[in-house]
Amino acid sequence: MQTKLVHNSKNYELHRYPKTTATSLQAWSNAELLVLDYIKEKETNKIHIYNDRFGVWNSLLNTKNITTVWTYASQKKAIHQNLKRNNLQTEVAYKTPLEDLKDVELALIKIPKSLELFELFLNQIHTSSSKNTEVVCGFMTKYFSVSYLEIAKRYFNEVSQSKAWKKSRLLLLKSPKEIVEERTFLNTISFNNTILKQYYGVFSSNKIDIGTQFLLENIHVAPHETKILDVASGNGIIAKEIVAQNSEIQPTLLDDFNLAIASSKLNLPQKTTFICDDNLDTLNDATFDLVVSNPPFHFEHENNIEISQYLFSGVKRCLKKEGRFVLVANKHLNYKTYLSKLFKEIVVIATNDKFVVYECKSF
Ligand SMILES: C[S@@+](CC[C@H](N)C(=O)[O-])C[C@H]1O[C@@H](n2cnc3c(N)ncnc32)[C@H](O)[C@@H]1O
Repeated sequence: MQTKLVHNSKNYELHRYPKTTATSLQAWSNAELLVLDYIKEKETNKIHIYNDRFGVWNSLLNTKNITTVWTYASQKKAIHQNLKRNNLQTEVAYKTPLEDLKDVELALIKIPKSLELFELFLNQIHTSSSKNTEVVCGFMTKYFSVSYLEIAKRYFNEVSQSKAWKKSRLLLLKSPKEIVEERTFLNTISFNNTILKQYYGVFSSNKIDIGTQFLLENIHVAPHETKILDVASGNGIIAKEIVAQNSEIQPTLLDDFNLAIASSKLNLPQKTTFICDDNLDTLNDATFDLVVSNPPFHFEHENNIEISQYLFSGVKRCLKKEGRFVLVANKHLNYKTYLSKLFKEIVVIATNDKFVVYECKSF
């Protein structure tokens, strides 16, 4: 994995967090470098940055007045580690995509996979824009589609593209539109007589995922299972349906994505504990009777089951001695191999042509 980057004659050492064994992956792409090259002559010192996944922009623009709009807890950790590693100032001004910004002059976006998230970013920028606001979006050409252009044109009068450089390109947005349609950026999903709300960009935007539905059809909570944890909880649907089986349940929900946690706060009762984190390290040992999950297996454009494997070892530690872990997975992922390294007993509760529901126990 390449970790050394030279920029403006300075050497930087940038790593990914979480670590990966995939040696082809690194902490930046040519899209971010192309953006840096484009803005090098710009006078403005005040920059808002989006989707700086591992902190390359926070590191290389460290002396500027930066506001970072963060989306993932793991992103914050990656940024912090890389700033520290390079002896740079580690205090970062963070905002979530739902907060108000102040006077956006120049915004940089590494275009996210989710079109909805891209739109949410542009709306946030637009709300705090003035006539000279400029947005510089970097992307790898293989991931681009005209839908990004269509979204950009809803918010900006001038939308153009740069020439390609090493398979990356820029989308340049200028002259914010005077009037744009006011929206809430919340999707509404109706499922089993309940209504769920979720912010743009959260997993499975218009319906409950079919894997999740399969898990819900096959999970029955025992009366003593009151301490439950939903790992990678998204909009909170799994915990919500489980709480409906027993009102004594005290749910804890954990997700890496701040908009997932913000969405689940709209859907679950107040007694719920919400944690925005990418691992279970802040939870005590032997706490839960039942852990449930539809775990992640890709991040943006990368398929990655290492994240789930790490989450599984956290689950094992946090389960009570007699507790159980019930999860749904795509059949082809063959999670049983990993789960059997951690748990004594793994039972297939249900299976269909696409999914499998496992129940794992340690006793
Ligand atoms: C397959 S979705 C399931 C969401 C929800 N449970 C459902 O069934 O609709 C996986 C979720 O994992 C989250 N995620 C990704 N990496 C994570 C990590 N390291 N820790 C916790 N959550 C993570 C994503 O943000 C996403 O919400």
